[in-house]
Amino acid sequence: MFQNSAEKSACYRPIVILNGETSVNQTDFIQQLPKVELHLHIEGSLEPEMMFELAQRNQIKLPFSTPEAIKAAYQFSNLQSFLDIYYQGANVLQHEQDFYDLTWAYMLRCHQDNVIHTEIFFDPQTHTERGIAFATVIDGIHRALEDAQQKLGISSRIIMCFLRHLDEESAFETLQQSLPHKDKIVGVGLDSSELGHPPEKFTRVFRQAREEGFLTVAHAGEEGPVSNIYNSVELLKVSRIDHGVRCSDDEKLVAELVQSQMPLTVCPLSNTKLKVFEKMEQHNIVELLREGVQVTINSDDPAYFGGYMTDNFLAVAQSHTLTEDELAQFTRNAINATFISQAEKQALMNKLDSFVAGR
Ligand code: HPA
Ligand code: ZN
Repeated sequence: MFQNSAEKSACYRPIVILNGETSVNQTDFIQQLPKVELHLHIEGSLEPEMMFELAQRNQIKLPFSTPEAIKAAYQFSNLQSFLDIYYQGANVLQHEQDFYDLTWAYMLRCHQDNVIHTEIFFDPQTHTERGIAFATVIDGIHRALEDAQQKLGISSRIIMCFLRHLDEESAFETLQQSLPHKDKIVGVGLDSSELGHPPEKFTRVFRQAREEGFLTVAHAGEEGPVSNIYNSVELLKVSRIDHGVRCSDDEKLVAELVQSQMPLTVCPLSNTKLKVFEKMEQHNIVELLREGVQVTINSDDPAYFGGYMTDNFLAVAQSHTLTEDELAQFTRNAINATFISQAEKQALMNKLDSFVAGR
Protein backbone atom coordinates (compact mmCIF):
# COMPACT_ATOMS: atom_id res chain seq x y z
CA MET A 1 0.00 0.00 0.00
CA PHE A 2 2.82 2.41 0.84
CA GLN A 3 5.66 3.29 -1.45
CA ASN A 4 9.14 2.11 -0.41
CA SER A 5 11.63 4.85 0.41
CA ALA A 6 13.47 4.64 -2.94
CA GLU A 7 10.22 5.30 -4.82
CA LYS A 8 9.35 8.08 -2.39
CA SER A 9 12.59 10.00 -2.85
CA ALA A 10 12.39 9.52 -6.62
CA CYS A 11 9.05 11.34 -6.81
CA TYR A 12 9.80 13.99 -4.17
CA ARG A 13 9.13 17.55 -5.33
CA PRO A 14 8.81 20.67 -3.16
CA ILE A 15 5.24 21.42 -2.16
CA VAL A 16 3.50 24.49 -3.58
CA ILE A 17 0.29 25.74 -2.02
CA LEU A 18 -1.56 28.55 -3.78
CA ASN A 19 -4.55 30.17 -2.09
CA GLY A 20 -6.05 26.91 -0.97
CA GLU A 21 -5.83 25.32 -4.40
CA THR A 22 -4.17 21.93 -4.18
CA SER A 23 -1.05 21.50 -6.29
CA VAL A 24 -0.19 18.15 -7.85
CA ASN A 25 2.16 17.58 -4.93
CA GLN A 26 -0.45 18.24 -2.33
CA THR A 27 -2.94 15.98 -4.09
CA ASP A 28 -0.32 13.19 -4.03
CA PHE A 29 0.38 13.88 -0.37
CA ILE A 30 -3.31 13.67 0.51
CA GLN A 31 -3.82 10.51 -1.51
CA GLN A 32 -0.87 8.76 0.12
CA LEU A 33 -1.37 10.10 3.65
CA PRO A 34 -2.33 7.25 6.04
CA LYS A 35 -5.89 7.94 7.19
CA VAL A 36 -8.18 6.80 9.97
CA GLU A 37 -11.95 6.98 9.60
CA LEU A 38 -14.17 7.34 12.68
CA HIS A 39 -17.51 8.41 11.22
CA LEU A 40 -18.87 6.15 8.51
CA HIS A 41 -22.37 4.71 8.31
CA ILE A 42 -21.97 1.43 6.45
CA GLU A 43 -25.49 1.81 5.00
CA GLY A 44 -24.31 5.18 3.63
CA SER A 45 -21.64 3.45 1.55
CA LEU A 46 -24.28 1.73 -0.58
CA GLU A 47 -23.43 2.93 -4.10
CA PRO A 48 -26.32 3.24 -6.60
CA GLU A 49 -24.81 0.44 -8.75
CA MET A 50 -24.81 -1.98 -5.81
CA MET A 51 -28.29 -0.82 -4.76
CA PHE A 52 -29.48 -1.70 -8.24
CA GLU A 53 -27.68 -5.06 -8.25
CA LEU A 54 -29.04 -6.04 -4.81
CA ALA A 55 -32.56 -4.96 -5.79
CA GLN A 56 -32.41 -7.34 -8.74
CA ARG A 57 -30.80 -10.15 -6.72
CA ASN A 58 -33.46 -9.83 -3.97
CA GLN A 59 -36.37 -9.01 -6.28
CA ILE A 60 -37.10 -5.68 -4.68
CA LYS A 61 -38.76 -2.94 -6.69
CA LEU A 62 -36.94 0.40 -6.71
CA PRO A 63 -38.65 3.65 -7.72
CA PHE A 64 -35.75 4.24 -10.20
CA SER A 65 -34.97 2.60 -13.54
CA THR A 66 -31.17 3.13 -13.61
CA PRO A 67 -28.30 3.83 -11.18
CA GLU A 68 -28.01 7.27 -12.86
CA ALA A 69 -31.63 8.02 -11.96
CA ILE A 70 -30.83 7.11 -8.34
CA LYS A 71 -27.86 9.50 -8.35
CA ALA A 72 -29.98 12.27 -9.84
CA ALA A 73 -32.36 11.97 -6.86
CA TYR A 74 -29.55 12.81 -4.41
CA GLN A 75 -30.36 16.51 -4.05
CA PHE A 76 -30.72 17.34 -0.38
CA SER A 77 -31.90 20.47 1.42
CA ASN A 78 -31.21 19.29 4.99
CA LEU A 79 -30.58 16.17 7.09
CA GLN A 80 -34.18 14.90 6.97
CA SER A 81 -34.40 15.11 3.17
CA PHE A 82 -31.33 12.84 3.04
CA LEU A 83 -32.52 10.41 5.71
CA ASP A 84 -35.82 9.77 3.87
CA ILE A 85 -33.91 8.54 0.79
CA TYR A 86 -31.19 6.78 2.79
CA TYR A 87 -33.62 4.56 4.75
CA GLN A 88 -35.42 3.67 1.52
CA GLY A 89 -32.12 2.63 -0.11
CA ALA A 90 -31.27 0.29 2.79
CA ASN A 91 -34.33 -1.87 1.97
CA VAL A 92 -32.34 -3.78 -0.66
CA LEU A 93 -30.11 -5.23 2.10
CA GLN A 94 -31.71 -8.55 3.02
CA HIS A 95 -29.20 -11.37 3.51
CA GLU A 96 -25.92 -11.80 5.36
CA GLN A 97 -24.09 -11.86 2.03
CA ASP A 98 -25.59 -8.45 1.13
CA PHE A 99 -24.12 -6.93 4.30
CA TYR A 100 -20.83 -8.68 3.53
CA ASP A 101 -20.73 -7.33 -0.04
CA LEU A 102 -21.60 -3.81 1.12
CA THR A 103 -18.86 -3.81 3.77
CA TRP A 104 -16.25 -5.44 1.54
CA ALA A 105 -16.83 -2.80 -1.18
CA TYR A 106 -16.27 -0.05 1.42
CA MET A 107 -13.06 -1.73 2.65
CA LEU A 108 -11.74 -1.86 -0.92
CA ARG A 109 -12.33 1.91 -1.12
CA CYS A 110 -10.46 2.28 2.18
CA HIS A 111 -7.56 0.38 0.66
CA GLN A 112 -7.48 2.74 -2.36
CA ASP A 113 -7.51 5.77 -0.05
CA ASN A 114 -4.79 4.51 2.32
CA VAL A 115 -7.22 4.21 5.22
CA ILE A 116 -5.33 2.09 7.75
CA HIS A 117 -8.04 1.84 10.43
CA THR A 118 -11.79 2.45 10.41
CA GLU A 119 -14.55 2.44 13.03
CA ILE A 120 -17.86 1.94 11.30
CA PHE A 121 -21.45 2.58 12.36
CA PHE A 122 -24.41 0.41 11.57
CA ASP A 123 -28.08 1.06 12.35
CA PRO A 124 -29.62 -2.23 13.60
CA GLN A 125 -33.16 -0.79 13.79
CA THR A 126 -33.17 0.13 10.08
CA HIS A 127 -33.01 -3.61 9.45
CA THR A 128 -34.70 -5.27 12.44
CA GLU A 129 -37.79 -3.06 11.87
CA ARG A 130 -38.07 -4.75 8.43
CA GLY A 131 -37.82 -8.22 9.93
CA ILE A 132 -34.10 -8.81 9.28
CA ALA A 133 -32.39 -10.55 12.22
CA PHE A 134 -29.73 -8.62 14.17
CA ALA A 135 -27.35 -11.57 13.61
CA THR A 136 -27.77 -11.40 9.81
CA VAL A 137 -26.58 -7.79 9.81
CA ILE A 138 -23.70 -8.00 12.29
CA ASP A 139 -22.37 -11.33 10.98
CA GLY A 140 -22.15 -10.05 7.37
CA ILE A 141 -20.42 -6.82 8.40
CA HIS A 142 -18.05 -8.56 10.82
CA ARG A 143 -17.00 -11.27 8.34
CA ALA A 144 -16.05 -8.63 5.74
CA LEU A 145 -14.03 -6.71 8.34
CA GLU A 146 -12.15 -9.86 9.32
CA ASP A 147 -11.34 -10.50 5.66
CA ALA A 148 -10.19 -6.89 5.28
CA GLN A 149 -7.84 -7.27 8.24
CA GLN A 150 -6.39 -10.45 6.72
CA LYS A 151 -6.26 -9.54 3.05
CA LEU A 152 -5.86 -5.75 3.09
CA GLY A 153 -4.21 -5.17 6.48
CA ILE A 154 -6.89 -2.69 7.56
CA SER A 155 -7.97 -2.83 11.21
CA SER A 156 -11.48 -1.88 12.30
CA ARG A 157 -14.12 -1.71 15.01
CA ILE A 158 -17.94 -1.74 14.91
CA ILE A 159 -20.26 0.75 16.65
CA MET A 160 -24.03 0.27 16.65
CA CYS A 161 -26.19 3.38 16.53
CA PHE A 162 -29.65 3.87 17.97
CA LEU A 163 -32.06 5.74 15.70
CA ARG A 164 -33.03 8.78 17.76
CA HIS A 165 -36.36 9.32 15.98
CA LEU A 166 -37.52 5.98 17.48
CA ASP A 167 -38.44 5.65 21.14
CA GLU A 168 -36.41 4.66 24.18
CA GLU A 169 -38.11 1.27 24.36
CA SER A 170 -36.95 0.35 20.86
CA ALA A 171 -33.39 1.39 21.78
CA PHE A 172 -33.53 -0.80 24.93
CA GLU A 173 -34.76 -3.71 22.82
CA THR A 174 -31.89 -3.18 20.37
CA LEU A 175 -29.37 -3.07 23.21
CA GLN A 176 -30.77 -6.40 24.43
CA GLN A 177 -30.44 -7.93 20.93
CA SER A 178 -26.82 -6.81 20.74
CA LEU A 179 -25.70 -8.57 23.93
CA PRO A 180 -24.97 -11.99 22.35
CA HIS A 181 -22.72 -10.10 19.87
CA LYS A 182 -20.90 -7.95 22.43
CA ASP A 183 -17.53 -9.33 21.37
CA LYS A 184 -17.98 -7.80 17.90
CA ILE A 185 -19.22 -4.33 18.99
CA VAL A 186 -17.02 -1.78 20.74
CA GLY A 187 -19.54 0.98 21.34
CA VAL A 188 -22.95 2.52 20.88
CA GLY A 189 -23.87 5.75 19.09
CA LEU A 190 -26.88 7.93 18.34
CA ASP A 191 -27.88 9.05 14.85
CA SER A 192 -30.83 10.03 12.59
CA SER A 193 -32.96 13.21 13.02
CA GLU A 194 -31.24 15.47 15.55
CA LEU A 195 -33.89 18.20 15.70
CA GLY A 196 -36.61 17.27 18.19
CA HIS A 197 -34.70 14.22 19.49
CA PRO A 198 -32.13 15.47 22.03
CA PRO A 199 -29.60 13.21 23.76
CA GLU A 200 -31.47 13.30 27.09
CA LYS A 201 -34.12 11.03 25.50
CA PHE A 202 -31.53 8.23 25.67
CA THR A 203 -29.79 8.89 29.02
CA ARG A 204 -31.04 5.63 30.57
CA VAL A 205 -30.24 3.44 27.53
CA PHE A 206 -26.73 4.84 27.34
CA ARG A 207 -26.25 4.25 31.07
CA GLN A 208 -27.17 0.59 30.62
CA ALA A 209 -24.94 0.33 27.54
CA ARG A 210 -21.99 1.67 29.54
CA GLU A 211 -22.75 -0.83 32.32
CA GLU A 212 -22.54 -3.57 29.66
CA GLY A 213 -19.05 -2.31 28.78
CA PHE A 214 -19.79 -0.32 25.61
CA LEU A 215 -18.01 2.97 24.89
CA THR A 216 -20.33 5.77 23.72
CA VAL A 217 -20.50 8.39 20.97
CA ALA A 218 -23.35 10.57 19.68
CA HIS A 219 -24.20 12.77 16.72
CA ALA A 220 -24.62 16.25 18.18
CA GLY A 221 -24.34 19.80 16.89
CA GLU A 222 -24.72 18.77 13.26
CA GLU A 223 -28.00 20.66 12.76
CA GLY A 224 -28.98 20.78 16.41
CA PRO A 225 -28.08 23.31 19.12
CA VAL A 226 -24.95 23.39 21.29
CA SER A 227 -27.03 22.05 24.21
CA ASN A 228 -26.97 18.70 22.39
CA ILE A 229 -23.17 18.71 22.55
CA TYR A 230 -23.12 19.63 26.26
CA ASN A 231 -25.75 16.98 27.08
CA SER A 232 -24.07 14.25 25.04
CA VAL A 233 -20.93 14.81 27.11
CA GLU A 234 -22.67 15.20 30.46
CA LEU A 235 -25.54 12.69 30.21
CA LEU A 236 -24.38 10.14 27.63
CA LYS A 237 -20.70 10.33 28.73
CA VAL A 238 -19.49 10.17 25.15
CA SER A 239 -15.83 9.67 24.23
CA ARG A 240 -16.31 11.48 20.88
CA ILE A 241 -18.84 13.88 19.37
CA ASP A 242 -19.97 13.03 15.83
CA HIS A 243 -20.06 16.23 13.74
CA GLY A 244 -20.14 18.85 16.54
CA VAL A 245 -19.48 21.71 14.10
CA ARG A 246 -22.16 23.91 15.67
CA CYS A 247 -19.83 24.25 18.69
CA SER A 248 -18.63 27.48 17.09
CA ASP A 249 -21.93 29.06 18.19
CA ASP A 250 -20.55 29.07 21.76
CA GLU A 251 -17.00 30.25 22.52
CA LYS A 252 -17.10 28.75 26.01
CA LEU A 253 -17.91 25.34 24.54
CA VAL A 254 -15.02 25.56 22.07
CA ALA A 255 -12.69 26.36 24.99
CA GLU A 256 -14.04 23.34 26.91
CA LEU A 257 -13.56 21.05 23.89
CA VAL A 258 -9.94 22.21 23.65
CA GLN A 259 -9.39 21.78 27.38
CA SER A 260 -10.95 18.30 27.51
CA GLN A 261 -9.42 17.24 24.16
CA MET A 262 -12.84 15.89 23.15
CA PRO A 263 -12.59 14.60 19.55
CA LEU A 264 -15.05 15.77 16.89
CA THR A 265 -15.62 13.46 13.92
CA VAL A 266 -16.28 16.09 11.24
CA CYS A 267 -17.64 15.20 7.79
CA PRO A 268 -16.94 18.07 5.37
CA LEU A 269 -18.72 16.84 2.21
CA SER A 270 -21.73 15.73 4.27
CA ASN A 271 -21.95 19.18 5.84
CA THR A 272 -22.03 21.01 2.52
CA LYS A 273 -24.41 18.50 0.87
CA LEU A 274 -26.84 18.84 3.79
CA LYS A 275 -26.44 22.65 3.87
CA VAL A 276 -24.93 22.85 7.34
CA PHE A 277 -22.47 25.14 5.52
CA GLU A 278 -23.44 26.70 2.20
CA LYS A 279 -19.90 26.44 0.80
CA MET A 280 -16.76 24.52 1.79
CA GLU A 281 -14.93 27.86 2.12
CA GLN A 282 -17.29 28.64 5.03
CA HIS A 283 -16.60 25.34 6.82
CA ASN A 284 -15.09 25.82 10.29
CA ILE A 285 -12.92 22.67 10.47
CA VAL A 286 -9.62 24.47 9.79
CA GLU A 287 -10.42 27.23 12.26
CA LEU A 288 -11.23 24.60 14.91
CA LEU A 289 -8.01 22.71 14.13
CA ARG A 290 -5.98 25.89 14.68
CA GLU A 291 -7.83 26.63 17.91
CA GLY A 292 -6.68 23.23 19.20
CA VAL A 293 -9.93 21.26 18.92
CA GLN A 294 -9.33 17.55 18.19
CA VAL A 295 -11.05 17.60 14.79
CA THR A 296 -10.87 14.67 12.38
CA ILE A 297 -11.95 14.26 8.73
CA ASN A 298 -14.50 11.55 7.84
CA SER A 299 -16.88 10.63 5.03
CA ASP A 300 -20.21 9.91 6.86
CA ASP A 301 -22.29 8.53 3.93
CA PRO A 302 -19.87 8.59 0.99
CA ALA A 303 -22.21 7.06 -1.59
CA TYR A 304 -24.69 9.88 -0.99
CA PHE A 305 -22.40 12.86 -0.38
CA GLY A 306 -19.96 12.52 -3.26
CA GLY A 307 -16.81 11.17 -1.76
CA TYR A 308 -14.75 8.87 0.42
CA MET A 309 -11.84 9.84 2.69
CA THR A 310 -9.41 11.22 0.09
CA ASP A 311 -12.22 13.26 -1.49
CA ASN A 312 -13.07 14.79 1.89
CA PHE A 313 -9.42 15.73 2.57
CA LEU A 314 -9.14 17.20 -0.94
CA ALA A 315 -12.34 19.21 -0.54
CA VAL A 316 -10.98 20.82 2.65
CA ALA A 317 -7.53 21.45 1.14
CA GLN A 318 -8.99 22.98 -2.04
CA SER A 319 -11.02 25.50 -0.06
CA HIS A 320 -8.52 26.35 2.70
CA THR A 321 -4.77 26.86 2.76
CA LEU A 322 -3.27 23.97 4.72
CA THR A 323 0.27 22.75 5.39
CA GLU A 324 1.31 19.10 5.22
CA ASP A 325 1.72 19.15 9.01
CA GLU A 326 -1.87 20.30 9.41
CA LEU A 327 -3.13 17.61 7.03
CA ALA A 328 -1.22 14.95 8.97
CA GLN A 329 -2.62 16.38 12.23
CA PHE A 330 -6.11 15.25 11.16
CA THR A 331 -4.82 11.67 11.13
CA ARG A 332 -2.94 12.19 14.39
CA ASN A 333 -6.13 13.42 16.07
CA ALA A 334 -8.06 10.46 14.65
CA ILE A 335 -5.53 7.91 15.91
CA ASN A 336 -5.71 9.41 19.42
CA ALA A 337 -9.52 9.23 19.26
CA THR A 338 -9.80 5.56 18.22
CA PHE A 339 -11.27 2.83 20.42
CA ILE A 340 -8.20 0.59 20.23
CA SER A 341 -5.44 -0.28 22.69
CA GLN A 342 -2.48 1.98 23.37
CA ALA A 343 -0.18 -0.49 21.55
CA GLU A 344 -2.43 -0.50 18.47
CA LYS A 345 -2.55 3.31 18.50
CA GLN A 346 1.24 3.41 18.66
CA ALA A 347 1.48 1.08 15.65
CA LEU A 348 -0.77 3.42 13.63
CA MET A 349 1.20 6.47 14.82
CA ASN A 350 4.42 4.77 13.66
CA LYS A 351 2.92 4.30 10.17
CA LEU A 352 1.96 7.96 10.04
CA ASP A 353 5.34 9.13 11.35
CA SER A 354 7.30 7.05 8.85
CA PHE A 355 5.16 8.40 6.01
CA VAL A 356 5.75 12.01 7.13
CA ALA A 357 9.47 11.41 7.74
CA GLY A 358 9.85 9.89 4.27
CA ARG A 359 8.55 13.02 2.51
N1 HPA B 1 -26.64 12.49 10.74
C1 HPA B 1 -27.54 11.79 11.41
N2 HPA B 1 -27.86 10.56 11.09
C2 HPA B 1 -27.24 9.97 10.06
C3 HPA B 1 -26.30 10.64 9.34
C4 HPA B 1 -25.96 11.96 9.70
O1 HPA B 1 -25.10 12.65 9.11
N3 HPA B 1 -25.88 9.78 8.38
C5 HPA B 1 -26.56 8.63 8.54
N4 HPA B 1 -27.40 8.74 9.57
ZN1 ZN C 1 -23.22 10.49 10.62
